[in-house]
Amino acid sequence: MIFGATGDLANRKLYPSLYKLFEKGNLSDKFAVIGVARRPLTNEEFQENIKKSVKSSIQKEDRIDEFASHFYYHSHDVTDSNSYAVLNNLANQLDSNYDLQGNRIFYLAMAPEFFGTIALHLKEDGLTNVSGFKRLVIEKPFGHDLQSAQELNDQIRTAFSEDEVYRIDHYLGKEMVQNIEVIRFANAIFEPLWNNRYISNIQVTSSEVLGVEERGRYYEKSGALRDMVQNHMLQMVALLAMEPPIKLTTEEIRSEKVRVLRALRPIEGEEIKEYFVRGQYDKGTVEGTQVLGYREEQMVNPESNTETYVAGKLMIDNFRWAGVPIYIRTGKRMDAKSTKIVIQFKDIPMNLYYSPEETLNPNLLVIHIQPEEGITLHLNAKKAGQNIAATPVKLNYANRGIDGLNTPEAYEKLLFDCMRGDATNFTHWDEVALSWSFVDKISDVWENQKAENYPNYNAGTMGPREADELLEKDGFHWWPIS
Ligand code: BG6
Repeated sequence: MIFGATGDLANRKLYPSLYKLFEKGNLSDKFAVIGVARRPLTNEEFQENIKKSVKSSIQKEDRIDEFASHFYYHSHDVTDSNSYAVLNNLANQLDSNYDLQGNRIFYLAMAPEFFGTIALHLKEDGLTNVSGFKRLVIEKPFGHDLQSAQELNDQIRTAFSEDEVYRIDHYLGKEMVQNIEVIRFANAIFEPLWNNRYISNIQVTSSEVLGVEERGRYYEKSGALRDMVQNHMLQMVALLAMEPPIKLTTEEIRSEKVRVLRALRPIEGEEIKEYFVRGQYDKGTVEGTQVLGYREEQMVNPESNTETYVAGKLMIDNFRWAGVPIYIRTGKRMDAKSTKIVIQFKDIPMNLYYSPEETLNPNLLVIHIQPEEGITLHLNAKKAGQNIAATPVKLNYANRGIDGLNTPEAYEKLLFDCMRGDATNFTHWDEVALSWSFVDKISDVWENQKAENYPNYNAGTMGPREADELLEKDGFHWWPIS
């Protein structure tokens, strides 16, 4: 059951991903989807929407009619038990028609204010009373701060146990985010160096060219800290910093990630200025087009104090990472859409190849998450010619996916994982709670102190100047992302 079946996420991501799973044979023909949303629609109209959504993102759709025939629609009132009873009847009927063995997945792809209500109704109105498995997939935002996340979690947990809850962080479905562990734990050359003796700093950038688009209402209350740092950025940091798990099981991996978040140094009060920079975009030129400043966007307060950019320095106080800054930055309306991780290794003890024109570059391992996927290792090698001089060289690996085609969309992988009951690439409650408690300390201060310098970066740039200073005072600089 997909709650929010007429919404943007369902249309843009979920239906095309389900179609790909179906086409590849990863979804047998024993499946049925009930689209649940408020507006009245017939099954036929809903199936037409499904076809449209699939066709708009996939070129090859040979089996589209067969696929769409598995979709049913229920016009729903989220607060009305009678509506849940009708939904349950439909689900029971489909269960026997398609031989589903009492297995149900409930996907909440809708406004977060209803998450708790729906979960409670699912239980009280008998929808979770099944003979097979029941799973709840829940989209972000998972709460607005620790307290609201805790309340939401309590509501959900009355109907589902922790191992039945699949909290989506779509970054965990990205191929190269999943590759972080493999690069680290399947190569003899990195793991011995992966610590404060050899790494000088790590930089994680996730920049976007888009602004807030039509999401002003949500974003005004969220800002980049809650929208990106609490989830995607901290998840990437946890994967980069975790200890090797004993085994590749869900519990082992998650518990190592939790340990990183527990070791994350809390930044609070006056310290925030030292460790974090916030920004808000002004008008500017993005990819050749003039765009509005954040305060001129729809549904945005003309004096908004909301940050559209965050840069920060994280410290992980454990044996492996003591003293190694992990810099993160993310923002809207920057000059490129790019997610990249740069691991900067410490300089060698002595440079034998000093020349006035060229200094020796530090070794960098760059993990390209998107749009390109791959790895680049920056080394130094001999400059061709008579002199023994060093010059930078790059070893590049471009990830071309399994068949030379694009790698599967994050949602395709995550939906498949959920169907198979693999929760590894979903966030555990402990991770959510720890990241909120880290982020809350910063947002409490930012919300109560107006940023006098907003807007402080032009659209189409890499963010405010203070973000450069954050690294410069430690003797570093941001490595370019392109
Ligand atoms: C979402 C945020 O979680 O991630 C959006 O709510 C953001 O504001 C998006 O644009 C970025 O995802 P991606 O996959 O495009 O990097």
